[in-house]
Amino acid sequence: MHLQRRNRILRATPAIRSMVAENALTPNDFIAPLFIDEGTNVAYEIPSMPNYFRYSIDLTIKEVKLLWSLGIKSVLLFVKAKDETKDNTGKEAWNPDGLMQRAIKAIKDAVPEMLIMTDVALDPYSIYGHDGIVKDGEIINDATVEALVKMSLSHAQAGADFVAPSDMMDGRIGAIREALEHENFTNVGIMSYSAKYASCFYGPFRDALDSAPGFGDKKTYQMDYANRKEAIKETLMDVEEGADIVMVKPAMAYLDIIREIKNTVDVPVSAYHVSGEYAMIKAAAKMGWLNEEKAIIESLTSIKRAGADLIATYFAKQAVQLIS
Ligand code: PBG
Repeated sequence: MHLQRRNRILRATPAIRSMVAENALTPNDFIAPLFIDEGTNVAYEIPSMPNYFRYSIDLTIKEVKLLWSLGIKSVLLFVKAKDETKDNTGKEAWNPDGLMQRAIKAIKDAVPEMLIMTDVALDPYSIYGHDGIVKDGEIINDATVEALVKMSLSHAQAGADFVAPSDMMDGRIGAIREALEHENFTNVGIMSYSAKYASCFYGPFRDALDSAPGFGDKKTYQMDYANRKEAIKETLMDVEEGADIVMVKPAMAYLDIIREIKNTVDVPVSAYHVSGEYAMIKAAAKMGWLNEEKAIIESLTSIKRAGADLIATYFAKQAVQLIS
């Protein structure tokens, strides 16, 4: 054979493969989600998320110090609210002494440079486990947006660098941006969950926070996974309303959406490699059916290749250890 082009030349050795690799993971890619609990010295392993813990604030601080030392620059906070604080208004979400607000301050004090992003949605505080206020069996939009604005301002007041609305209500990005401007929080960013699908892959997360919806599902606000154009519409609107970073969620079953969004918007795109995606790899590895380390790196690299500038993943710490 006399071939003009031999593609295998560029795959022949580890040296040439690494030189021509189009994508590589770095610690700058990752956002580490953290689950926070009341109490001290609490480390609760989430049953459906092996080796992932809900920590009290003191242990969260230790974890944040470790993450920073590994080169991870950002954490995304979720709290497990006590049952007695839950209602249908979500008012615990903007309690200045609430668990989230205390956690933000404690992390800022301990590791001032760590970027703190906070989940903004009412589900941890809702007696119904829904992201918004419920009326006659429906999740009502505009009253919920007012609550999310209060929640966002309260996080900004406590020291959050970015608020991350994950609720999928209409108009919340514009309302939050306007309120941040009005209150002079001009350095606080918004990472919008712009294309968030109604997904079964959030199951383990709802175990982690005991936040599963008490009735129905989230399909009247989260998106239908059959849709692609709708993701573009949602994301363009969020950018217009003032989102600094947009997010696609989940990640691996939505790589096409990540790429579409990346090609469409001029802001950084993040992807959320969610709890169910973590659980799948952990479970298969435990059975001996997948090589865990290889599955992690291949999955995260594929998310980056699809177009994600940032990846929120429960594997952040492990991935950084693997690539270093
Ligand atoms: C709450 C929220 C959820 C997740 C992030 N924020 C759950 C949901 O929408 O039901 C899921 C994260 C994960 O599964 O890792 N609004």
